[in-house]
Amino acid sequence: MMAILVDTRLLLRRVKDFRSLMPRRNRVKEKWAATRPKNPPTRLALQHFDATYSVQLGNLWPSVRVALLSERKYGALVNNFSYEAVLANLQAQGCRDFISDTHTETQSCFEQDKAVEADKELGVSMKTSVNNSQQHSALQLSPSIKCVVFPRGDITRFKPARPDMHGLLGYYLMDAASVLPCLALDVQEGHSVLDLCAAPGGKTLVLLQTQAIRFLCLNDVSVSRTLRLKRVLNSYVPKQFLSDEMLRITSFDGTKWAEVESNTFDRVIVDVPCTTDRHSLMEDDNNIFSKSRTAERRRLPQLQLELLLAGIKAACPGGEIVYSTCTLSQIQNLSVVEQAVYLARENHGIHLEVVSLRPLTHMFRKTFHFTPDLQLGEMVVPHLAANFGPIYMCKLKRLT
Ligand SMILES: C[S@@+](CC[C@H](N)C(=O)[O-])C[C@H]1O[C@@H](n2cnc3c(N)ncnc32)[C@H](O)[C@@H]1O
Repeated sequence: MMAILVDTRLLLRRVKDFRSLMPRRNRVKEKWAATRPKNPPTRLALQHFDATYSVQLGNLWPSVRVALLSERKYGALVNNFSYEAVLANLQAQGCRDFISDTHTETQSCFEQDKAVEADKELGVSMKTSVNNSQQHSALQLSPSIKCVVFPRGDITRFKPARPDMHGLLGYYLMDAASVLPCLALDVQEGHSVLDLCAAPGGKTLVLLQTQAIRFLCLNDVSVSRTLRLKRVLNSYVPKQFLSDEMLRITSFDGTKWAEVESNTFDRVIVDVPCTTDRHSLMEDDNNIFSKSRTAERRRLPQLQLELLLAGIKAACPGGEIVYSTCTLSQIQNLSVVEQAVYLARENHGIHLEVVSLRPLTHMFRKTFHFTPDLQLGEMVVPHLAANFGPIYMCKLKRLT
C-alpha cells in the first residue's frame, strides 16, 4: 500500500515537472475550466422544462424528455425545381414520402374523425375560454409537396443534398413535422400568401413547392437571417420564380405589419420565435435560457401574441392563418392563440373561428406522435421511434 502511495506521489511530481517544461500555449487552461458556468443554459432549460412540462404533459413527459435529449430525426423536402430524379433516388435508399402515402386515407379519416368529435362533444365539456367549436373542413393536400423520411425507428441520416447541373439542390433537410403547418395552411391556386417570420426559409420552401401561389410576401425582422433566406431561395428555386411580381422580401418588425397593409392576404403563416425546446436542450451557444437572454425569453409570449395579431390583421376576411411554434409550452401555444382570438374580437372587431386540424393528425398518425386531446390546435411530440417535433400549430379563419 505504502509503495503505491509513494509511486503515485512520484508520478504526480513528474507530471508537475513535465507541465513546467511544456510550452505555455500547450498547457491546459485551468482558469477557463474554473470559470465555466455551474449551470449552463442547456441545464437551466432542462430544469425549466422538468418543472413545467411534467405538470403540463403528465405521464407523457418522461418519454418526451428522453426523445428530446436524443438525436432528432430529419425529413428531406423534395425540391420539385431540381432537375434530378430526387424522389426516386431517395426512395431507393429506403425512404418514403409520408405525404403521398396518406392521400388515399384522407376522406375516410375525416368522416371517422367527425364521428369521434361528435361523441366527445356529447360527453366532455371543453375547459378553454375561447369558443372552441373547432370547425372541420376537408383539407386538400397539395400533391406537389413531398417530404421523405426513413421508416419508424430507423435513424439513418440523410447525406447532404448535391447541386444539379443548374446548381439547384435536390432536397432540403428539415424537421419533417415542420411541413405540417404548411399543409394546414392549405394554399390554393392563385392565393396571395404572407410568411411573417420567414427566415431561414424552411416553410417558405414547402409553400413554394405547391407552385400555386400568385404572390408570396416573405418577412423577417432579422436582416442577417433575411440574407440567409435569400441564399436558401437561390439554392433551391430558379430565378424566374423569384421575380418581383411574384415575391417580396422584407425585414420589418412583423408586429407592426398593419402599418404596411391589412385585410390583404388569403393565407398567412405566423411561425413565431419561441424557446425552440430542442435547441435549448442541446446547444449552449445562442441559447434563449442563457442568463443574458432572460428578459427576452420572458417577453416571448407577448411578442408571439403581437405577431399573431398582426398576422390576423394582415389576412383578408375569409382568409386563413396558421400559428406555429417549435415548443411544447402551453403559455407560448394555446394561451397565445386564446388571447389573440379574444383581443382580435374585442379591440379590432375581427371574428375568428378555430379550424380543426384533427383530419390532418389522423392522416399522419403513423408518422408522428400527436398530443392526445389538445384543447386548441395540434402538437407533434417527440418520440424515440419517430423523433420529430415539437411542433405546435393552430389554424384560424377570419369571419369578418
Ligand atoms: C421560428 S423562426 C422562423 C422559421 C422559419 N419560418 C422557417 O421555417 O425556416 C422565427 C423567426 O422570427 C423572426 N422574428 C423574431 N421577431 C420578429 C418580429 N418582430 N418580426 C418578424 N420576425 C421576427 C426571427 O428572426 C426568426 O427568424
